Amino acid sequence: DWTSDVFIDATVAELKEKIGSDKVVMGLSGGVDSSVAATLIHRAIGDQLTCVFVDNGLLRKDEFEEVLHSYKDMGLNVIGVDSKQRFYDALAGISDPEAKRKAIGRVFIEVFDDEAHKIDGVKWLGQGTIYPDVIESVSVKGPSATIKSHHNVGGLPDFMKLSVVEPLNTLFKDEVREVGRALEIPETIIGRHPFPGPGLAIRILGDITPEKVQTLQEVDHIFIQGLKNHGLYDQVWQAGAILLPIQSVGVMGDERTYERVVALRAVGSVDGMTADWIHLPYEFLGKMSNEIINRVKGVNRVVYDISSKPPATIEWE
Ligand code: XMP
Repeated sequence: DWTSDVFIDATVAELKEKIGSDKVVMGLSGGVDSSVAATLIHRAIGDQLTCVFVDNGLLRKDEFEEVLHSYKDMGLNVIGVDSKQRFYDALAGISDPEAKRKAIGRVFIEVFDDEAHKIDGVKWLGQGTIYPDVIESVSVKGPSATIKSHHNVGGLPDFMKLSVVEPLNTLFKDEVREVGRALEIPETIIGRHPFPGPGLAIRILGDITPEKVQTLQEVDHIFIQGLKNHGLYDQVWQAGAILLPIQSVGVMGDERTYERVVALRAVGSVDGMTADWIHLPYEFLGKMSNEIINRVKGVNRVVYDISSKPPATIEWE
């Protein structure tokens, strides 16, 4: 029967054997999966592993700085790359969800490849793929056509010619978290909600601008902090805010306003394949609405998404 300690010992031994004295490069996302995978690989081969953490300008507020700091504290050999402008340039004028994912995937690979080329003689690419990613990426190749192309699976460009090492590809999310805790990875990383690779780009409906990203970061920050302060964060599998491509009429003092609408979303799930909307307390939602409208310039209306998956999806794009 499965225990995290047995898994860790067996996996570290296997990784040592497999990788030997080779070098490994790996992209970190700030999420649980890549952090746990990197820590396992680091346990096996130490600084033969170089991690790359890219700021794509689509992360949560202050997340890049905070997470980079945690990685360094964990002893990982990590390079932080500020590529915000490259991503914004590639996304300019693009509204179609799949086109956004493709643009982000392409720029990520370019940036990552630039960094990988700086490491002499790297042979392996580490990935944080978990079991449900394997299933979902197989199922979307079927006759039902692509639903959403999760760009972090199978996104390896041919020219990189690296072998892939995926120490978590047999585990479910709860097992990954258990392993992470046994590895003493900080709770701020282990308990973190899943966050999509394309980040806020798929939570801004319509085209992306740095100004919209900043607005959404502020809204999202208030919501996520609110969940934490009210003891609700750990009861939710995933939460976030969506910036809608419409404006609505409001009133502020004697003035008529015509500003943005945001949707809040919080779901319960086991693996993301199905999800239920969470019945957050009305008082809490009311508080969030007030705080968001009072504090975030340019937003005058907040709505709450009460759709489950299926038939909706977790993300709006
Ligand atoms: P959906 O919206 O398909 O989301 O119900 C299911 C889970 O997958 C995440 N998601 C993505 N993750 N790249 C990712 O890495 C993507 O393009 C992507 N699209 C959705 C979503 O946040 C949820 O956890």
